[in-house]
Amino acid sequence: MSPITAASASLNSITLTRPDDWHLHLRDDAVLASVLPHTAKQFARAIVMPNLKPPVTTTAAALAYRERIIAALPEGMRFEPLMTLYLTNNTTPDEIRRARDSGLIHAVKLYPAGATTNSDAGVTDLRLCYPTLDVMQQCGMPLLVHGEVTDPAIDLFDREAVFIDQVMVPLRNDLPELKVVFEHITTKHAADYVSSASGPIAATITAHHLLYNRNAIFLGGIRPHYYCLPVLKRESHRLALVKAATSGNPRFFLGTDSAPHSKGAKEHACGCAGCYTALHAMELYAEAFDQAGALEKLEGFASLFGPSFYQLPVNSGQITLQRQDWTLPMELPLGNSTVVPLNAGETLRWKAV
Ligand code: DOR
Ligand code: ZN
Repeated sequence: MSPITAASASLNSITLTRPDDWHLHLRDDAVLASVLPHTAKQFARAIVMPNLKPPVTTTAAALAYRERIIAALPEGMRFEPLMTLYLTNNTTPDEIRRARDSGLIHAVKLYPAGATTNSDAGVTDLRLCYPTLDVMQQCGMPLLVHGEVTDPAIDLFDREAVFIDQVMVPLRNDLPELKVVFEHITTKHAADYVSSASGPIAATITAHHLLYNRNAIFLGGIRPHYYCLPVLKRESHRLALVKAATSGNPRFFLGTDSAPHSKGAKEHACGCAGCYTALHAMELYAEAFDQAGALEKLEGFASLFGPSFYQLPVNSGQITLQRQDWTLPMELPLGNSTVVPLNAGETLRWKAV
């Protein structure tokens, strides 16, 4: 393990240990080939989400997907995909043992059925999964949680808070040693819960949830590129997330949830959920930490706390971010279509160099 270097912060530039993205959607085929270089340029590794069509539910499928990712990596780029399995009602304890024995599968993702993109095969009743979760607890395999209830009677903006009471607390009472990552948290409730809960729990936080509140979705008209799940919340929640991310608490670390959808699928009568940030993720996090006057806390959040939770070595190598204006393109190639990045056409104040 390389020594932990304090981030060298100065007014106009910051150098960090090379970061990792602990929550990423890479998709597959031509889309994978379009997006992978953006992530590989900024991050050494990423936890790769398994919500493909069909979902990645077996060790064999995850290892085959890993090979496709490595094959899609441009010549000369280095990047390590950290694979995950998609939990279903039928995932067996043996499948978890196979995943663990592969050494290449680092977590299992819980999508409550119907919660988000390609979650139809997700879990309908978590109690059906208890024998499997018990094996995960025994072998230290983290459960990554999309923490929203799907009951249509629950207001969309309350789904994360209700999930904590109805699902997260009972689950962790029943399986107190299960490693859990509360993914892409969006509320003060979740930040407070993760800060104060006992046992092995952490949370990822996206750059867009640190920078924007729900007004961004409706500023002068409906703005589909700011629509993701869990949806952006009100300002008091954004402030709580910034406080958690910049606190230096190792339970909070970086996960972009960069989720590419084609321009047409976003700018649609029923637009898909997901913000594309892989191109400029570290710049967005630098902006958020800079606004909070906490650039010196970025290295822990981006580069040190994730490896510690996942029991992986800290990366060697570094990344430097400079205070430098640059303008994002309006669109980027995405397979045979295009993707509109978050902040398309806007000028950012930080640039990875
Ligand atoms: O906004 C989102 N997009 N949230 C998710 O949970 C899934 C993701 C996707 O896969 O598009
Ligand atoms: Zn996601």
